Amino acid sequence: MKLKIALLGGDGIGPEVLAQSVKCLKAVEETFNHQFSYEEAPVGAVAISNTGDPLPEDTLKRCKASDAILFGAIGALEYDYNPEAVVRPEQGLLKLRKELGLFANIRPVKVFSSLVGNSLLPKKVISGTDLVIYRELTGGIYFGKKTLSADGTMASDLCEYFEGEISRIAHMAFKAAKRRRRKLTLVDKANVLETSRLWRKVVTEISGSYPEVKLECLFIDNAVVQMMMNPKQFDVILTDNMFGDILSDQGSVIIGSIGLLPSASVGNENAMFEPFHGSYPQAKGKNIANPVASILSTAMLLQHFGLNEEADAVVKAVNKSFRKNVITKDILGSSKYGTDYVGDFISENITYSDEDLNLNDENIDLGKSTII
Ligand code: IPM
Ligand code: MG
Repeated sequence: MKLKIALLGGDGIGPEVLAQSVKCLKAVEETFNHQFSYEEAPVGAVAISNTGDPLPEDTLKRCKASDAILFGAIGALEYDYNPEAVVRPEQGLLKLRKELGLFANIRPVKVFSSLVGNSLLPKKVISGTDLVIYRELTGGIYFGKKTLSADGTMASDLCEYFEGEISRIAHMAFKAAKRRRRKLTLVDKANVLETSRLWRKVVTEISGSYPEVKLECLFIDNAVVQMMMNPKQFDVILTDNMFGDILSDQGSVIIGSIGLLPSASVGNENAMFEPFHGSYPQAKGKNIANPVASILSTAMLLQHFGLNEEADAVVKAVNKSFRKNVITKDILGSSKYGTDYVGDFISENITYSDEDLNLNDENIDLGKSTII
């Protein structure tokens, strides 16, 4: 298969983790005989410094012309501590999502059996957790009208949803639930918010077309507690933009590190693959960031194009890195492996499923792999 992939490294650790994903994609190309082409484009704080615009026209054009986008991370400390900044890196990501119509953000939270001891939560609570969050991504409070009074003492953010925005992602989530364990949980705040009441109405109506899927509705405040106490009860979670942002970060507590979680943002015409995590500016250039979230995002990219065997090969290589403790410090404090090494290890281990090993495992165990 031929694929044109836009690479948007962005800020902080974004470019470092993305480089590891590209190694993996190149290994997939070689192993499975595909041809992918790559084009880098600036976004975020880096783009503001160079052009004044967090999403330059040219970057948007390249993204529209590509089959898929791999996104690194966005955000920089100088903006986090300056609420008065009018132009902000995050605006680049939000505009990209909106312009490309990426209305569904799919965020799987699945416990890796070899890392089950890594979470702060007890093993018996989290083992076997396998849920996926369908977060609405181009509407709601993120995109509603924003105001700040002239004297700077009053601000507002409008939360708006149209029926069509709810139904298109709801159908997607119900279809996913039908393929999975046939349970869908709508998370909202319908006891307080009008938008949530519309979500409940639309989703309940749509559930009539999916009789095999059990619909449950939970308020967000209860949902965050349930997710910590008994995450196994969830299969597909459907929610709006803001609640989905919060709930998905909470999912990282179950997994043990936010550096492990990938996501896919899809629309009718475009698709972008991005880790859950932010730009972690404190780690920039230190070769300590975990590349797994980005690498697993490439597995989601491959799956999106029906390259399931290829996606499996990437996931298998990631699992092998866990089994062999070739992992970064966020997972194992005593680890001596950096971003680059983990990326090399995973990409070198992307093989056809019947070839389990292509490195000398004893050398890896001794930290003497031939790939460094
Ligand atoms: C995410 C991030 C973004 C969001 C930020 C960087 C704008 O937190 O993808 O979860 O809030 O959507
Ligand atoms: Mg977030």
